Amino acid sequence: MEFENILFTVEEGIATITINRPKQANALNAATVRDIEKAVDYIAGSKDVQVVIITGAGDKFFVAGADIKEMADYNPKQAGDWGTYGAGVITKIERLPQPVICAVNGYALGGGCEISMACDFRYASDNAVFGQPEVGLGIIPGFGGTQRLARLVGPGMAKEIILSNQNIDSAEALRIGLVNKVVPQAELMPAAIKTAKKIMKQGPVAVQIAKKAINNGLQCDIITGIQFESNVFGLCFATKDQKEGMKAFMEKRKADFKGE
Ligand code: HXC
Repeated sequence: MEFENILFTVEEGIATITINRPKQANALNAATVRDIEKAVDYIAGSKDVQVVIITGAGDKFFVAGADIKEMADYNPKQAGDWGTYGAGVITKIERLPQPVICAVNGYALGGGCEISMACDFRYASDNAVFGQPEVGLGIIPGFGGTQRLARLVGPGMAKEIILSNQNIDSAEALRIGLVNKVVPQAELMPAAIKTAKKIMKQGPVAVQIAKKAINNGLQCDIITGIQFESNVFGLCFATKDQKEGMKAFMEKRKADFKGE
C-alpha cells in the first residue's frame, strides 16, 4: 500500500498509523485523511491486526488540526462536504472491530483532538496539549468534537474547552479523564505497545465483542444497552475461545486462544 502522509506498519498483530506531515505540524489535509481512510479500511478487513495504535511523527505534534491553509477559501458547500467526509473517516476509526489506542505525542488540536477521541482510549506524552481551538478561527469543531468531547468529559468541561478556546495540558487531560495515562515522550510508544500486548493475550473474539457492547451502549438507553450485552454475552459461548478460556482456568494453565 502506498501512502503520502502517513506511515503504516503491521508487526506482530499491532497496526501502527503514524500521521506524518512534519513541516505542517501533521495537520490533516484531504490527502492525509484519505491515507488514514485507506489504512483503516485495510485494518477493518484484516485478520492479522489485533490492536491498532495511532500516533504522530516527531516529538512535538500529534496533529495540529485540519489544514487551515487548505480550508481557508472553502465555500459553505465545500466546508460541509469536508466536514462530512472527515467525520466519516474518524467514525470509521471508532467503529473498527479491533481496539485502537491513541498515543498522543504532542499537540492534539482541532481535528487532532477529534481523531484521538474516536480511539478507544488515549495515552499522552507529558508535553501533549489538547484543545478545540476552532471558535478562534470563526468555525466550530467539525470532525465530531462537539459530540465526543461532551461524552468523554461531560458537557460543562467540553463547553468550557470549546467555547473559550482553552487548550489543556497533559496533566489536566488526565485529571478530567480525557487520557488514561501520561508518560515521558520516550515511554509513550512502549506504554501503548505494552497495553496492546496485554489486550492481545485475552480472548480475541471477546475483546472485539466487549468493545462493540460498550460502543453500542453509548448510542442508546441503558436498558437497550444491557439487552445487547446479554445477547452477545450468550454468543460468546458459541466460541472456541470461551471453551478454551474456561478450560485453561480449571486446568490452572494459560489459555491458548485461537480467536475463533
Ligand atoms: C495548517 C498548520 C496547522 C494547521 C500548524 N501548521 N498547524 N498548517 N493547518 N492546523 C503549520 C504552521 O503554519 C507552520 O508552517 C508549521 O505547521 C509549524 O507550526 P508553527 O505554528 O510554526 O509551530 P508553533 O509555533 O510551535 O505552534 C504550534 C501550534 C500552532 C500551537 C500547534 O501551529 C497552531 O496553533 N496551529 C493551529 C492549530 C489549530 O487552530 N487547529 C485547529 C484547526 S481547525 P509554516 O509553513 O507556516 O511555517 C480544525 C477543524 C477540524 O481542526 C474540523 C474540520 C471540518
